[in-house]
Amino acid sequence: MSAIPPEVEAPFSDEREYAPPPEFAAHANATPELYERAEGDFEAFWAAEAERRLSWTQTWDTVLEWDLPNARWFLGGQLNAAYNCVDRHVERGAGAKVAYFWEGEPGDTRTITYADLQREVNKCANALKALGVETGDRVGIYMPMIPELPIAMLACAKIGAPHVVVFGGFSSDALEGRMIDSGAVALITADGGWRNGKILDLKTAVDVSVGSAPTIKNVVVVRRTGHDISMTAGRDHWWHELVEGQSDQCEPLPVDSEHLLFLLHTSGTTATPKGIMHTTGGYLTGVSSTHHYIFDIKPDDVYWCAADIGWVTGHSYIVYGPLANGTTGILYEGAPQFPEPDRWWSIIEKYKVSILYCAPTAIRAFMKQGDAWPGKHDLTSLRLLGTVGEPINPAAWEWYRDAIGGSRCPVVDTWWQTETGMIMITPLPGVTTLRPGSATKPFPGLGAKVVDADGQDVANGTGEGYLVLTRPWPAMLRGIYNDPERFMSTYWRRFPGMYFAGDGCKVDADGYFWLLGRVDDVMKVSGHRISTIEVESALVDHPAVAEAAVVGRTDPVTGEAIAAFVILKSHIQPSDELAQELREHVATKIGAIARPKTVMFTPELPKTRSGKIMRRLLKDIAENRALGDVTTLADAGIVETISVKAHSSAAD
Ligand code: WTA
Repeated sequence: MSAIPPEVEAPFSDEREYAPPPEFAAHANATPELYERAEGDFEAFWAAEAERRLSWTQTWDTVLEWDLPNARWFLGGQLNAAYNCVDRHVERGAGAKVAYFWEGEPGDTRTITYADLQREVNKCANALKALGVETGDRVGIYMPMIPELPIAMLACAKIGAPHVVVFGGFSSDALEGRMIDSGAVALITADGGWRNGKILDLKTAVDVSVGSAPTIKNVVVVRRTGHDISMTAGRDHWWHELVEGQSDQCEPLPVDSEHLLFLLHTSGTTATPKGIMHTTGGYLTGVSSTHHYIFDIKPDDVYWCAADIGWVTGHSYIVYGPLANGTTGILYEGAPQFPEPDRWWSIIEKYKVSILYCAPTAIRAFMKQGDAWPGKHDLTSLRLLGTVGEPINPAAWEWYRDAIGGSRCPVVDTWWQTETGMIMITPLPGVTTLRPGSATKPFPGLGAKVVDADGQDVANGTGEGYLVLTRPWPAMLRGIYNDPERFMSTYWRRFPGMYFAGDGCKVDADGYFWLLGRVDDVMKVSGHRISTIEVESALVDHPAVAEAAVVGRTDPVTGEAIAAFVILKSHIQPSDELAQELREHVATKIGAIARPKTVMFTPELPKTRSGKIMRRLLKDIAENRALGDVTTLADAGIVETISVKAHSSAAD
């Protein structure tokens, strides 16, 4: 029997290969000897990267202290993340260089230089101090994609206050849970943001949630949309009143390398998101190094990572990595296809973007709109393309390379996680021969392999298994906030001595890694990470629902789509209206990204004799596939009942 569930399909296309274009290889930041050097002594490799890419106020004594599962990097070293991302670039004379070209969804624009960024970060840091925020205090951030979002993060870093960013698409309940878990003392937000021509009302969500998060004493509100909101006297402060009046000078506070830089919550296999901890020195080393080599960053590049800063991709590859490297980046507030499906391509043409990094879901959605939309724009400034967040099917990879990259740009498919902090499995452009659909090889100095259910190595080219990481790396998570036991049990206990990533994987005969999707109860919907159990909890929270089971079913655009199976309380009648109400209920409890695509009413759910819901079987039903082995079912007849009922009441 295969080590991983049969529903994870391999996106293989071993036949096609793309060697690095010679002209790209001639000037590439990455060279083949990186692998050798890092393999020889990975601690020395990372120490050299830490020294080369960052400015330390005090150098470290010990590169790595590794006591599984606890890693500590660059012990004794001190630095400040905001200084590394901003001030030092101004000091070396690059104050006039653009840090961000920002474009709002309605078309308004702002250009923020490194000198502007320094002034704004300092003012915001002084405002936080004025509110009594101290080093080590957690600060919540719940904002649209506007320049004040990275400014707020860097202001926190400047004074050593860890930030806890919550994606603006999450609901008030989700915000509340994260603020309570982190014990945040202040929250920085905005009245709202623009998305698909509509206002995303953030402040109202804040008002609902902050009442139940008693540690939050102050709320700072950026005026973005200008719509009517309520301000609570004594607690709420307008950014333009509080921050604008502050001094634009602020000394960066040097902190220990292992000082907490931020918490970022992510979904796991329970209903409660995990507060992933990332610290300063190792994290900055990992993200700046990977950003330099994988995106081949040159001083005049215009780099666009089109993720939201609310996710780890934005933290590492919109804010910390690129700014540490003094890069010019794009920030875009709104939806990819607003007002027309060529919004992204017009941005690339306008700012002469040279590097684009985005999710396969976006690529598939654009691909569906046809080649005419990108064809209307001059995309010849592009020289490198990247993807992240979910497996990319070879057809989408090829389309991206041809229709967007004009068949000349290398495509880097990068595998990593909120927990890894930095890219882990990836091609090095100019070095690696690409295979569409494969993230290729571990970054230099990293240890990754595939094992079977017993933790035994799966030899290259022989089959599928579980992806594990075998060596500590500098940007690795330092734990789950307030929950060391969950940290140990989630990642380190399944395969002793190794980090269990939760992904299925296959390594081909040439050592190329092919990621196959999650093997746990985590879904990837449009690249967003959502737990099946979170959605189930949101459903059973509705008064009509007795029980619910949720699975991710394969979707041609979003990768996975959420399919919910619901048992109603005995006196409730199923209806299309109720299905719609339940979908909205989940959106209210978690956020629109978690809204089920289909709700199927069923009298029963298939369970094993020990009472565990058989999600794999439900997935087969949701995808209309032939059913797998049902012998462990408590009552095999249930399957038939469900599939008949389900298809008569699907509200797709
Ligand atoms: C998936 C996103 C295949 C994977 C940075 C991982 C990928 C999860 C890839 C982490 C890729 C990410 N190919 N799968 N290139 N990149 N994944 O925490 O399942 O939001 O475990 O971090 O995304 O999601 P997270």
